[in-house]
Amino acid sequence: MYTQSVEISAAADDENDARLAAFEAKLDRGIAIEADDWMPAAYRETLVRQISQHAHSEYVGMLPEANWISRAPSLERKCVLLAKVQDEAGHALYLYSAAETLGTSRDEMLAALLSGRAKYSSIFNYPTLTWADVGTIGWLVDGAAIINQVPLTRCSYGPYARAMVRVCKEESFHQRQGFDVLATLCSGTPEQRALAQDALDRWWWPAVMMFGPPDAQSSHNERSMRWKIKHFTNDELRQRFVDQTVPQAAHLGLTIPDPALRFNAERGHYDFGTPNWDEFFAVLRGGGPCNRERLGARVAAHDDGAWVRAAAAAHALKRAERATSVA
Ligand code: 3HC
Repeated sequence: MYTQSVEISAAADDENDARLAAFEAKLDRGIAIEADDWMPAAYRETLVRQISQHAHSEYVGMLPEANWISRAPSLERKCVLLAKVQDEAGHALYLYSAAETLGTSRDEMLAALLSGRAKYSSIFNYPTLTWADVGTIGWLVDGAAIINQVPLTRCSYGPYARAMVRVCKEESFHQRQGFDVLATLCSGTPEQRALAQDALDRWWWPAVMMFGPPDAQSSHNERSMRWKIKHFTNDELRQRFVDQTVPQAAHLGLTIPDPALRFNAERGHYDFGTPNWDEFFAVLRGGGPCNRERLGARVAAHDDGAWVRAAAAAHALKRAERATSVA
């Protein structure tokens, strides 16, 4: 009996080894892993983690700017902002659907968010105090999102990579409209220019921290790079963001609030100061300026929508009963 069970588990190990080798060979050849392909459990788990938290970020990320839809300075700005916030809702749905291909459910993911167990991007836990914040979010946050998300269009997991293609196209509009808001303020009155500078002062470092902890403190970098979920590390994308954004700030006539910022000709990149990682990890633990407000708004929206979910479920049940009764 014992010998037989040892033989069975040895055969199972061999089969697993063969499947793992086939999985890694696909990654090495740049062939996308699809939902019905075999994949290591840990690959599936880290994708559910990252994609669902990405979706949560889009879903919660609607709140800071939505706060200004009713107070946009013109009908055109209001329509543009409405379109952007609506896009974020669509990105969330895209990403929740991509995560569901891995076997998790919308209810499970939302329960994790609303209970505070799941993360969403730290950046959305800061307040939008003025109209300049709306422009700065588009310029910096969506600008950072583009840098972080374009490589994800080549992620090894097919459904995620394909969802990212459309998301990235819409992010470009988001970033442009934000930059346009700031360009308008920066070519306006001294008060408007001061508004733009104040927003940059408050949003710069939270945007730099959006890319995650330093590589040395990243718990997922190494494995996500090996599995080609990530193609660049947190610090590599952070550097790309700083290099891209510094000239844009100069074009606007704004000063980036980092006294250590200077171009390093030897490296061909900007050297910059150290973010306040204590602040970052405090925000991740729920201690940011708006964590409670953001999660509270999402819990309230979910509770308020309970009757819609119940009505839709009752309607679907009625239709199913009618379909079976005529069959
Ligand atoms: N905010 C919240 N949590 C963060 C974070 C951030 N900015 N950066 C890292 N973390 C968390 C990670 O989730 C992980 O925690 P977990 O194990 O509980 O999930 C921990 O900190 C360690 O970080 P790692 O760097 O090891 O984790 P990752 O390898 O997952 O890298 C990431 C973090 C770069 C955010 C990566 O998850 C990623 O690229 N995600 C997809 C893109 C994304 O989510 N972007 C968020 C913004 S979406 C957005 O801006 C929408 C736009 O339309 C406005």
